[in-house]
Amino acid sequence: MSERFGPPVPVTIIGLGAMGTALAGAYLAAGHPTTVWNRTPGRADDLVARGAVELHEVAGAVAASPLVIVCVLDYPAVREVLDPIGAVLSGRVLVNLTNGTPAQARETATWAANRGADYLDGGIMAVPPGIGTPAAFLLYSGSEQAFTAYRRELDLLGAASYLGTDPGLAALHDLALLTGMYGMFAGFVHAFALVGSEKIRATEFASLLAPWLHAMLSELPRWAERIDTGDHTTAVVSNLAMQATAFPNLIQVSRDQGVRPDLMVGMQALLDRALSAGHGDADLTVLVELLTAPQTTKGTPA
Ligand SMILES: NC(=O)c1ccc[n+]([C@@H]2O[C@H](COP(=O)([O-])OP(=O)(O)OC[C@H]3O[C@@H](n4cnc5c(N)ncnc54)[C@H](OP(=O)(O)O)[C@@H]3O)[C@@H](O)[C@H]2O)c1
Repeated sequence: MSERFGPPVPVTIIGLGAMGTALAGAYLAAGHPTTVWNRTPGRADDLVARGAVELHEVAGAVAASPLVIVCVLDYPAVREVLDPIGAVLSGRVLVNLTNGTPAQARETATWAANRGADYLDGGIMAVPPGIGTPAAFLLYSGSEQAFTAYRRELDLLGAASYLGTDPGLAALHDLALLTGMYGMFAGFVHAFALVGSEKIRATEFASLLAPWLHAMLSELPRWAERIDTGDHTTAVVSNLAMQATAFPNLIQVSRDQGVRPDLMVGMQALLDRALSAGHGDADLTVLVELLTAPQTTKGTPA
């Protein structure tokens, strides 16, 4: 936690989409002088009514605060907004909460350093209404000095975690967490489509799906331990060969019920590859090693 005392630090928020507006709202609620800028004017009226200062020149908005938070659609937009202002960033902390890849984060960190800014990259693990509530957490990487100096302000948005000096680490963790989420959402989509093909109500099926997924989630620590130790020997109950034998039924029932199997075929291919590689007796956790096996050409496993 920061040891700094004194009046609330002025904060500038660049980008007033759903997320930027929520971020600005959290600083206003905590009494911080808050300057806002958005490409399209007219999105700041509510924030201004709550005490924000809206500026129409991005350079002026950046100059208004030592802590500048940018949250726009994507990294090209970040550069489109900040490239023209040049030296104004010098001596400030730039926190970029825009979603992007580790490579984009690293490149932006270098770009910011060349302009004299202390750069932190961040990933927001919350939806806008969750900002500033205990449900939100945010991941940061890059300048440790910036994180330490502004920890208190960053914690106002949601619990702040610092992952290391490599600016790409926050994006990597963010995208991995989103991968877990979208994998689950893909399962939701396919499962609801399957039962829907027999006109079974989604609300009725959800009452079965929820406890089933909770039970599967309890497997997570065991998975993590096996992956970390590299020990994929299975305790007899559910080896890969058994699961690879049952999995084609998921594909077949989809075709039989008129449901596109697209979301499941990638998993089938991976299971088949594991079987061919002689992992039939292993735990499903071995699939992680197959995904990360060296690639011969782009996208083609060795
Ligand atoms: N919403 C969420 O649940 C959520 C959760 C976690 C992370 N995020 C991330 O937070 C970021 C912002 O999301 P959001 O929900 O606020 O999106 P949004 O509501 O669609 O707003 C997009 C913002 O980006 C600005 N923008 C887009 N292109 C621009 C450009 N070329 N130059 C300048 N400004 C540009 C828009 O300005 P205009 O008003 O002028 O169009 C607007 O302020 C994204 O990277 C998103 O992935 C969002």
